[in-house]
Parts: sequence; C-alpha cells; structure tokens
Amino acid sequence: MKEFLWGGATASYQCEGGWNEGGRAESMWDKYLHEENLENGDVASDHYHRFKEDIKMMKEGGHTSYRFSLAWPRIIKNLEGEINQEGIDFYNEMIDTCLENGITPFVTIYHWDLPQYLEELGGWLNRRTCEAYMHYAKVCFDAFGDRVVHWSTFNEPRYCIFSGYLIGNYPPGHRDLQETLTGSYYLMLASAMAVKVFREGGYKGQIGIVHSFAPVYGVDGTVQTRIAMRFADNFLNNWILDTAAMGEIPGDMLGELSKTCDLSMMLPEDLEIIKHNTVDFLGLNYYARAVVKPYETGETTLIVNNSGSKAKGTSQTIIKGWFEQVRPESSRYTEWDTEIFPEGLYEGIRQVWKKYHLPVYITENGIGLYEDVTVDQVDDEERIQFMNMHINAILNAKEEGCDVRGYFAWSPFDLYSWKNGTEKRYGLVAVDYEDNLKRKPKKSYYWFKNVIETKGEAIKRETYGEV
Ligand code: BG6
Repeated sequence: MKEFLWGGATASYQCEGGWNEGGRAESMWDKYLHEENLENGDVASDHYHRFKEDIKMMKEGGHTSYRFSLAWPRIIKNLEGEINQEGIDFYNEMIDTCLENGITPFVTIYHWDLPQYLEELGGWLNRRTCEAYMHYAKVCFDAFGDRVVHWSTFNEPRYCIFSGYLIGNYPPGHRDLQETLTGSYYLMLASAMAVKVFREGGYKGQIGIVHSFAPVYGVDGTVQTRIAMRFADNFLNNWILDTAAMGEIPGDMLGELSKTCDLSMMLPEDLEIIKHNTVDFLGLNYYARAVVKPYETGETTLIVNNSGSKAKGTSQTIIKGWFEQVRPESSRYTEWDTEIFPEGLYEGIRQVWKKYHLPVYITENGIGLYEDVTVDQVDDEERIQFMNMHINAILNAKEEGCDVRGYFAWSPFDLYSWKNGTEKRYGLVAVDYEDNLKRKPKKSYYWFKNVIETKGEAIKRETYGEV
C-alpha cells in the first residue's frame, strides 16, 4: 500500500512520566489526580527517560510512523507564554530519534494536559485559553516544523470536553450543559486559530484534527429513530467534524441549544475564522459505534463504567429530548463494556469520506485487556483478532475508494489509561510496572510487524453483507 503510515499512538500525560522534571509546569491532570488521590501519570511508562528504547522497538516492530502528543506544560512555562527550552530540547530529541529510525513523527499539539495556570483562570471556559493555545501552537510550528509535516491540533475535543464538563469524570469534574457548550466552542475556535497560524506561517505539511469517532446506528428505520440519529450524530460527531472540515457548526444543533443555552460567546469574527480555516485531514479514533433510539423519558444521564467489570453496571447515555443510547445485547463487549464492532469502522469511514472528502487516518484503535505481564511473552491473541478485524475493515473501505492513509494502534506499549489506571492494558509491548518498567514485546507486536512488512497482506480478509 502506497504511502500508508503504520504505527502506534500515545499521549504525553499517559506515557511520559517525569511530571516535575525538565522544567515542566503542572498540568490540570496532575493537580486533579493528586488532589483526588487517584492513580496518576507521575511515572507512567517513563517514556520521558526511555523514549529512545521505545522508538527503537517501534522500528524493530516495523512501524513507519509514531503518533505522540506534545505536553503544553513542558513547552510553555507560564501565563506570560515563556518558552521552556528544556521542553523544546526534549521534543527535538524525540523527533530526531524518530527520523533516525525511519519513523515519521505524527504530532498532536494537545492531548488533554492543559497547564494548571490556565485551568486556574477557567481553562476552556475562558477565551484567553484560545489565545494561549495559538501562541503555544506557533511555538511548536517554529521549533519542530522543519521536520514535522503531520500535525493535529487536538485529540478528541468531544471526549475531553464532555468528560470534563458534562459527565464530570475528568478534570475539572463539572456537570454543566452551558459550560460544555462554551468549552466545546472555545476549543474548536482554538483549533481553527491554530490552523490559521499554520497557513499564514507557510509551514510545510498538513494539519488536521483527531476525533473520537462513534458512527451512529438506529434501532430501526422509523422517522422518530432517524430524528434521534441526527441528534446523536450532532452530539457525537458533527460538531467536531463539520466545524473542523467544513467550517460550519451544525445549525440545527445550535438551534436546539439556543432554547436553553447562552450562545453569546460566538462572535461573528470567530465564525469567520472557523469558516476559513478548515483542516487538511481527519484523524478518527475508533473504539465503538453508538446505537440509538428515540428519547423516551427521564433526565439527561451520562455514566461511564471505568471499573473494568461488566458486573458493575453499564455505561449509559441519555440526552433529554434528543436520544438514548442502547446496548445491543447480542453484540460482543470488552471487560470495560466497550462494544466490539469492526463493521462500524468500515461504515464510518465510508460516511466520512462521502461527506467530507478529506484524507482519513485511523489515529487510534485498540483493545484494553487485563494481562499478566510477568510471563516471558504475553499471548494476546484477543488483541490480534481485534486488530485484524479492524484493519480488515479499513482495507475494505480503501478498496471502495476511501482515502485512508494510516493506521495507529493504541498503543505501541502499555501506558496509563486515565481513570482506568494502568491495569487496563492496550500495548503491543508490555510494561511491567512492578519490575522496573521492563519492556517485553507481546505476541501482537510480532503479528503487527508481519502485517506491516507484508503491507497488509497478512490480514485475514472478510467482506461484509449489509451493515
Ligand atoms: C481515547 C484517547 O479516547 O481512548 C486516549 O485518545 C485513551 O487518550 C484511549 O487512553 C482509550 O481510552 P481509555 O479510557 O480506555 O484509556
């Protein structure tokens, strides 16, 4: 496959550790997890000190690209926007190590680790954060743009804003619809502002956005269900993808929201920036689809099962007046109750390609498992099956003409999984947190190497009927 990138994806807070080293400022996650006394990423996979070993393993595993994020608190010291040279040096080394190993760096500018000094002024609820982000993005383009040609402004705006301001299970831990709307808006505005800086600066390469993609399915074909599907698609996908790719916030969604929310922060000059600064590509993180039915009754309910036990109840999404998410009982699920549905990736890519006609990268896909990593080699056949099914779905979509340009496994090595801690393992390489963070490739690491080296020929193929 020509120019197809194969690799793994990580996020700074989830793997680096070194939280108070190299002049790094505090992030909102440090503050929140320390205060709540929860498992944190202070050490994580210690990638900060071991990135050379990790990148070498990626190379030996056949990877041609590495998707990682830059930590804003490592790069910008304070509210005045002062640059931390040690942070720049660290990422220069990381990028150079990738290139020396024949690995294309695929860089995310923001993967949720907002500096605490900005959070203290209201974080994404304060327009000032957009200006600060624009400055930070320019610093990154100036420092790394001679070698980095694949940029993403944000990782999963929907997931981080909803979790922080609507569900309340991520920092800052609020549950407020108006804040959710304000935070979403400022974050998407900041994304367009960074695209503007990128274009005006004449930096080389492409800039995109990464979305937590949940293709929407209905329980039946009734008109009511179709309306519910539209609400769900706006809620889950369109406000990111339409805004970033077409420069338009979905009008029907704003119409609905204006009944109860204040939209006065949406200034005409902002909307011009959004309109004229659309992205070059879409990154889709795919874990599962969303099956919905019309809203029936009850208050808005958003529950996420972070327990790793299906017995502890299922995740639930009800948006009052809009839709309810259902859990198809006959489907397969992970221990964390995420549905396994590769056909959704195939169908989703086709929808996205048809609607936006922009190149697509599958920027994350993977399965969280409980694993005993004390053995010589973890036999993660379940992960192999999972990845095979999803890469197969991508190949099917590509064969129908969709322009998919890369696949990134979440994750190249075990890392810290936010509220799920470190027991939820996603890596192709095991990290033994109990034994000096020792790295040991799992069976999937060798399987993926073979897939890459055969340019996808090693994938067991399957086509779908009607999906
Ligand atoms: C994506 C994020 O939502 O999914 C990652 O971009 C995250 O940061 C991954 O780790 C898996 O989710 P979780 O909650 O199982 O770690």
